[in-house]
Amino acid sequence: MPQFRAPRGTRDLLPAERAAFARLEGVARDLAARYGYAEMDTPLFEESVVFERGVGAVTDVVEKELFRVTATRGEEGERWALRPEATAGIVRAYIQHGMQALPQPVRVSLCGPMFRYDRPQAGRYREFWQWDVEAIGDPGPAVDAELIELGLRFYASSGLAGVDVHLNSIGDRACRPAYLERLRAYFEAHADALAPAEAERLKVNPLRLLDSKDPDLAALIAAAPRLVDHLCDACASHLAAVQAHLAVLGIEPHLEPTLVRGLDYYTRTAFEFYRQGATGQQQALGGGGRYDGLVELLGGKPTPGIGFALGLDRVVLALAEQGQAAAPAVGPTAIVVGADAEDTATRLRLATDLRAAGLAVRADLAPRKLGRQLEGAARDGAHFAVIVGDELAHGQVQVRDLQAGTQRSANVADLARDLSRGQAGHRHG
Ligand code: HAM
Repeated sequence: MPQFRAPRGTRDLLPAERAAFARLEGVARDLAARYGYAEMDTPLFEESVVFERGVGAVTDVVEKELFRVTATRGEEGERWALRPEATAGIVRAYIQHGMQALPQPVRVSLCGPMFRYDRPQAGRYREFWQWDVEAIGDPGPAVDAELIELGLRFYASSGLAGVDVHLNSIGDRACRPAYLERLRAYFEAHADALAPAEAERLKVNPLRLLDSKDPDLAALIAAAPRLVDHLCDACASHLAAVQAHLAVLGIEPHLEPTLVRGLDYYTRTAFEFYRQGATGQQQALGGGGRYDGLVELLGGKPTPGIGFALGLDRVVLALAEQGQAAAPAVGPTAIVVGADAEDTATRLRLATDLRAAGLAVRADLAPRKLGRQLEGAARDGAHFAVIVGDELAHGQVQVRDLQAGTQRSANVADLARDLSRGQAGHRHG
């Protein structure tokens, strides 16, 4: 057993897995650019109150999962928390930097790690990566459909087949309070079925009960009053208009009346992405929704907004389950080896010159026999071995094509051009 290990719920992304993440980040960045969602970043930690107020104090994310940062100096203790999600921080930044003054909506995206003190299991980590996308300042409904389509496009572009969107409306300030009263009365009538923690939640946030993972509550939840049946006219027509826009894009969402999301800032449109055929407690690949009250809640002017975040860890897992391993590592163009085992300086200098000329080149820096160096070059998947010998004094080296099994002399002065031409010729030939 090693003495030290990565903290529970975190993972080292070793090169093969990091490459899988990098590929997904590439897909995300490319799509964000094409759809006009400019990339931004926020700090990995914020004042805790940004999350308490934004995400909601009575949510799992804040109650149980917030990583609070205790400063050991000064009076700043307990004020900070690692970001559990990106939306609250982005909205904080939107207000702080006066982005209301920009043309609306402000379309932004962010790729990075999030932290939740969750019970670790496959696909559920304490440090995980999200691609987050937000459109702030547009009441919809067209932008709602634009975002849902963008989310689905990401999975398709990543090579993950059969992802569906589940859609619901969770109402707004006009219709939700009356519904919550109705829901509270319903659960109060069945109070004996509730565990103490659930009875407590009923008092402060009855909607959370619909999200309960307790199997004993499943039947009760299924029979509970549904918010979609109690939407005000404005919310009902918003939902219908989102569906109409999705239909134009050829997207048919699964309407999911019990979908409530785990964060408090949502209004109206709420959605989650699942793999087709996934049922019950299957983990979402991503989720999002509209948050028309959040900017105001964090101290800005009333401003509508909508966004989503996709869990990159879960996409990597799903791709692996689908039999799509990460792309194999690409070998370097050349490895510089030498007949004089001890002359590592010449090999290093030649490789450095070739790299300065833009090539992917390594040098064998171990003082070992040429045969061993050549074996290493083949194992690393290099296209060429550049063999340094006595003829270097005359500006010449040997170039062995490890893929074709041929060897020839080459001019050092011309080597960079020679190697890149050789590789391109091979690739296209
Ligand atoms: P969320 O549903 O809490 O939404 O998280 C979005 C996605 O992040 C989840 O669907 C899942 O794929 C991934 N995820 C969440 N927790 C974990 C975890 N512990 N381990 C691995 N993956 C996880 C949000 O975060 C909202 N900020 C989305 C949003 C943006 N809404 C509006 N704008």
